[in-house]
Amino acid sequence: PATAQADASAQAARDCFACHGPGGNSVLPIFPRLAGQQAFYIEKQLRDFRSGKRQSEVMAPIVAQMNEDDFAALAAFFAAQQPQPNRADDEAQLAAGKALYDDGNTRSGLPACAGCHQPGGLGNERFPRLAGQHAAYTAAQLRLFKSGGRGNDRAKVMRTVAERLSDDEIAAVVQYLASM
Ligand code: HEM
Ligand code: HEM
Repeated sequence: PATAQADASAQAARDCFACHGPGGNSVLPIFPRLAGQQAFYIEKQLRDFRSGKRQSEVMAPIVAQMNEDDFAALAAFFAAQQPQPNRADDEAQLAAGKALYDDGNTRSGLPACAGCHQPGGLGNERFPRLAGQHAAYTAAQLRLFKSGGRGNDRAKVMRTVAERLSDDEIAAVVQYLASM
């Protein structure tokens, strides 16, 4: 039964590959990578898309008919996939991005990203993985947090972070994250 369960999850996950890529390693930078993402976080986002706490016209209809078991199975599948290396398209930004990630910015009161998302950007059982995520997707999310467009409960902490990020800092940190 355990393997039958895993087979069923893999089959269901195939419906996501068109956008999120085979095994969750999407190629197009508007679609977030899911490979190696923390399972708790994938489940939470699917739940938030279903309730409308996180708004996405694309994801909402996909999860509308799913239940908690579906979410858990999909999350376990993608969390177990091997993330493929991604690359920064603006390497000039990497040093500035790394400094922000590791140390934050004392002048603006920006906390270090690493304090929550962990050294290496791998996340843990409380915070999502950011390593290897597409720069364009990550920048879009940071702008949404900043504007309040993504404001569901635990995302409030990200709003206080994003409010302290300048446009130049966003441009730098997302390149570093893509390269991690
Ligand atoms: C975002 C899962 C199918 C397009 C997400 C996120 C998850 C997810 C967990 C949030 C990722 C993050 O916060 O890092 C899934 C699963 C699918 C599926 C499990 C299959 C059951 C699709 C399909 C499409 C799609 C088929 C395209 C037609 C998107 C887009 C976003 C997204 C555009 C970003 C939304 C935003 O900008 O906030 N998906 N997805 N997904 N997904 Fe899917
Ligand atoms: C989510 C970036 C600092 C807590 C996220 C996401 C991004 C991000 C891009 C969304 C991930 C996705 O959609 O796949 C950053 C950057 C930081 C930073 C660049 C530093 C400049 C922090 C800090 C904390 C934190 C210091 C904790 C105090 C969280 C939480 C979420 C999150 C709880 C999940 C929100 C949700 O459930 O929707 N972060 N982060 N982050 N971050 Fe951060």
